[in-house]
Amino acid sequence: TWVLTDWVDRMVESIRTQVGDDRVICGLSGGVDSTVAAVLTSKAIGDRLSCIFVDNGLLRKDEARKVMETYTKLDLNVKMVDASDRFLEALKGVEEPEAKRKTIGEVFVRVFEEESSQVEGARWLLQGTLYPDVIESGHQGKGAAVIKSHHNVGGLPDFMKLKVLEPLRDLFKDEVRRIGAILGVPEGFLKRHPFPGPGLAVRCLGEVARERLDVLREADHILQEEIANFGLYDSLWQCFCVLLPVRSVGVMGDVRTYAETAVIRAVESQDGMTADWARLPYELLDRVSRRICNQVRGINRVVLDVTGKPPATIEWE
Ligand code: XMP
Repeated sequence: TWVLTDWVDRMVESIRTQVGDDRVICGLSGGVDSTVAAVLTSKAIGDRLSCIFVDNGLLRKDEARKVMETYTKLDLNVKMVDASDRFLEALKGVEEPEAKRKTIGEVFVRVFEEESSQVEGARWLLQGTLYPDVIESGHQGKGAAVIKSHHNVGGLPDFMKLKVLEPLRDLFKDEVRRIGAILGVPEGFLKRHPFPGPGLAVRCLGEVARERLDVLREADHILQEEIANFGLYDSLWQCFCVLLPVRSVGVMGDVRTYAETAVIRAVESQDGMTADWARLPYELLDRVSRRICNQVRGINRVVLDVTGKPPATIEWE
C-alpha cells in the first residue's frame, strides 16, 4: 500500500503544478472512477474543482440522493442538476438500443455544456479515464466493430477549449479502488457493481416511459435487497432486473392480470469482457419472484436469463 500512498502524494503534487491557479470542471457519474478522480483533485486544489452531477432520470431507486450524500461526506464541491424531464422527453418514442444511447449522449452533452459554461474561469475538464479505456478507444479508432457505443463522461466534444486532466489514466480498476480507499471513499461505494452510463434506459426494453421506469426500479430494488440478504452481492459482477415489453396472462387472487415481464440478470465476471450467468440459489430466486409479482404492480411474470457472454452481452441493449 505504501507504493500507492506514495502515488497519491505525487499525483496531488502533480495536479497542483499542472493546474496552477486555474479552475477545473468534472462531471460526476456516481461511479467509482469519476469519484476517485474528483476526490484526488479536490485534495490538490480544493474548491477550485467544480463538480456537476446530472440526474438523467435513469438511475436506480434512491440512487441520486444516496450518491449526493456520499459526495457531500467526501467534501466535494458538487452541484446536482435534475435533468430527468429533458432526458425522458428526448427519449419519447425511441426504442432502438443504439438510438437510445445516442439520444442520451446528446442530451448529456447539452446539459453538461450549459452547466459548465456557468462555471466562471474554468480551464480544465477532469475525467476518470483508466488505462483500459485508453487502450480500448485506441482499438475502436482502428475500426474494430462497435457492438455498443459506450457513454461515459468521456468522449465529450472539445468545447470551450478545455484542457483534459486525466490523473487515473495509468491505472487499472483494482488500483483505483485501493486509491479510493486511501482517500477515504467508503468501501461500500468502491465495491458497487458497474452501472451503464445510459442507465435504466438500456434495461427498460421498448419505450422508456416514466411509469415503466418506476416499475423497473421497484423490481430491481427487491432483487438488490434479496441479493444483499443472501450475502451474494460481492461475489457477483452485476445483478439487475430488465423489464420486457412482453405481456402475458396471470392470476392474482381471483382476478386475471395481463402485465409485463421482469428478467433477473446476474453474472460473474473478471472484467466484463466475458461473463458466466450466476447460479443463484433457488430459494433466492423464489423469494425474488414472489415478492416482485406481489409487490410490483405492472409485472406478473419473472424469468431468469441463463445466457453467458458471449454469445449474449451482459446488458440487454
Ligand atoms: P455489455 O452489455 O457490453 O457490458 O456486455 C459490459 C459491461 O459494460 C457495462 N456497460 C456500460 N458502461 N457505459 C458504461 O459506462 C455504457 O454505455 C455501458 N454499456 C454497458 C455493462 O454494465 C457491463 O458491466
